[in-house]
Amino acid sequence: MSDSGTVRILGVAGSLRQGSFNRALLRLAQEMAPAGMTIESFDIAPIQPYNEDVRQQGFPKPVEDLRARIKAADGLLIVTPEYNYSIPGVLKNAIDWASRPPEQPFDGKPIGIMGASAGALGGARSQYHLRQCFIFLNGLVMNRPEVMIPAAQTKFDANGKISDQATLDFINAHLTALKAWVLRMR
Ligand SMILES: Cc1cc2nc3c(=O)[nH]c(=O)nc-3n(C[C@H](O)[C@H](O)[C@H](O)COP(=O)(O)O)c2cc1C
Repeated sequence: MSDSGTVRILGVAGSLRQGSFNRALLRLAQEMAPAGMTIESFDIAPIQPYNEDVRQQGFPKPVEDLRARIKAADGLLIVTPEYNYSIPGVLKNAIDWASRPPEQPFDGKPIGIMGASAGALGGARSQYHLRQCFIFLNGLVMNRPEVMIPAAQTKFDANGKISDQATLDFINAHLTALKAWVLRMR
């Protein structure tokens, strides 16, 4: 937590594509962060596929950066689509890298999860698989309110903005609850 008492969240998107709805959702979350909370983002694109032989030589720079940023943050916000009913490989890969000893940075870290997907369940299955990973890593994932945006292609405009008020209300409620969750878990 910063000296000013601001809650500092690190946001990670589980999609690499430029026009990603989830990257747009993360940007929206940054804009909508409640007073007293900031959300910075970390781009996982430069993280290479996990290879234990490489790790034995030391963490690659992008992984070191991610681990340091997670450690320094008061909490995480993961914003991800669902791929084949599960976690996108690039996101799972980043989590796998960051989770390796020593001092894996997810331990005791408050975490919020939001997502948007093309399907009718808004990426629910991806979110539940993520939760399962964080059981092992002892990440403290907030249970609710959940944000799963279905039929994402109908919810975002060309600028990555959302006009549907009910969806905006869910996002707002999640961010407000995440701030309270971080303060509660201190
Ligand atoms: C490999 C792959 C698998 C996908 N599997 C699912 C799925 O299981 N459920 C779903 O709702 N959408 C699925 N989709 C569609 C994504 O939800 C859609 O492409 C979405 O826009 C991806 O998020 P993004 O816009 O942040 O990149 C899949 C897309 C890809 C590329």
